[in-house]
Amino acid sequence: MANKIDNSGAASEERSKHNSAAACGPWDVSKCMEIYEKWSHQYDEDFSEERYRAPFYAAEAVAKLLPSDRRNHVRILDVAAGTGKIGKHLADMGFTEIDALDASSDMLKVLSSKGHYKNIYQDTVGDHETVIAENTYDLTTMSGGFVEGHLPITALDEMLRVTKKGGYVVICMREEFLQSVPDYRRLEPHAESLEAEGRWKLISREQRSNHFFDQSGLVFTWQKL
Ligand SMILES: C[S@@+](CC[C@H](N)C(=O)[O-])C[C@H]1O[C@@H](n2cnc3c(N)ncnc32)[C@H](O)[C@@H]1O
Repeated sequence: MANKIDNSGAASEERSKHNSAAACGPWDVSKCMEIYEKWSHQYDEDFSEERYRAPFYAAEAVAKLLPSDRRNHVRILDVAAGTGKIGKHLADMGFTEIDALDASSDMLKVLSSKGHYKNIYQDTVGDHETVIAENTYDLTTMSGGFVEGHLPITALDEMLRVTKKGGYVVICMREEFLQSVPDYRRLEPHAESLEAEGRWKLISREQRSNHFFDQSGLVFTWQKL
């Protein structure tokens, strides 16, 4: 049944696709958090590395921007960090100063148990200013946050706000959502309006295959001006 997380049986391809679809819908944040409460303990099984490449693509894009000799002091914020998949890849690549922000305490519990993140913030993104000060991070990143019923496009403004001037915002999302999710049809126009205001510039918009199973993804990189 749509919008009901399947907690039964093994982590089959079918269960993984079912739960991915069950997490998408036109709901508010409290309904979204109920879904992650039911899903957090098996999210990593359903979204294993072979099935869901988005966090790796985001981490790879981050690593291209920040050479090895900077990785033990640049500050990175992972937004909608979930169970910390980007952080694991970044830690493997030598990054040490990684913070997490996510609305779900259940997902953050799993993330925290892995030990890759320093500061962990539980909050929603895009509907208000978080406690994080302006110009804090060298880079902010996100994978899997732009999904129906998840983050609004104004999450871009918050990511931009907490990023330092000259720093980067790197976002990986499923390509089809730019059309299939009504709110996200305005995502690129919104990003372009921030660019027209001189607040950031688009560095790259890269298509990646197998973002989630055979679905393609996009990795956007902007630089704050
Ligand atoms: C599909 S998971 C992605 C997690 C992780 N980034 C990854 O790629 O595996 C989406 C995450 O977005 C979080 N989320 C949903 N709506 C949110 C909101 N409005 N503000 C902050 N986090 C939110 C959920 O709690 C969940 O952890």
